[in-house]
Amino acid sequence: MLLEGRKAIVTGASSGIGKATALRLAAEGAQVCLNYYSDNDKPGAKQAVKEIAKAGGHAIALQADVGREDDVTRLVSRAASEFGGLDLLVNNAGIENQVALIEMPLATWERVLRTNLTGAFLCLREAAKLMIAAKSGVVVNVSSVHEFIPWPGYAHYCSSKGGLKLLMETAARELAPSGVRVVNVAPGAIMTPINERLLEHPKEEHTVEEEIPLGRMGSAEEVAGAIAWVASAEADYVTGTTLVVDGGMSLYPKFV
Ligand code: BGC
Repeated sequence: MLLEGRKAIVTGASSGIGKATALRLAAEGAQVCLNYYSDNDKPGAKQAVKEIAKAGGHAIALQADVGREDDVTRLVSRAASEFGGLDLLVNNAGIENQVALIEMPLATWERVLRTNLTGAFLCLREAAKLMIAAKSGVVVNVSSVHEFIPWPGYAHYCSSKGGLKLLMETAARELAPSGVRVVNVAPGAIMTPINERLLEHPKEEHTVEEEIPLGRMGSAEEVAGAIAWVASAEADYVTGTTLVVDGGMSLYPKFV
């Protein structure tokens, strides 16, 4: 097992990549705190906790809005006291919606930046305090190919993911002397609830697949596998970089 005895938080873990990651970390031997946002998300997180317990693992589910400072301090301190420490944070919580730039209300911009970037910063800051004291730890941010690919209609989302790239790189430098690694995992088009619209419109999905050299969308489990590896001791010399998990989407497949 890759993560025997590790103590982890996964944010936004009630569905999609977050949930698959929580299940995978637990299967690799980690204790996992599954964070979820609202009552609507609670059943997904609770169901994963049950599944982990049934397999003999240890997991808890905690509600928190990662964009709220008080919520994050509570989340991190509760998880750490439940597990007796914290050595792995997966900053996965993220939202997106399509809005033309000139029509984007400030509130929409702020909501996306607050969850995707400020949320990751707050969780990173609180987790890093514990990791520095313990002189070890790993932070994995689930970013996106949109940390470097511009996407019309998603200026707020791309800005949040681009921000996450330099947050990761800066934190990696700042925390390296304390034995803490910081890495991004950048998924491409993955079959998760965030892509429901695509999955419900096979024609659109087909267009997306043409943008992917491997010819298909990825699964949440494939991203979870990359996260588990990068979080493990197998990747002890990996920090300050982005592991892209996109079936080759970022290779300009239409450029001839
Ligand atoms: C977005 C998806 C999108 C994918 C590729 C991800 O970051 O969440 O909605 O399909 O990037 O464009």
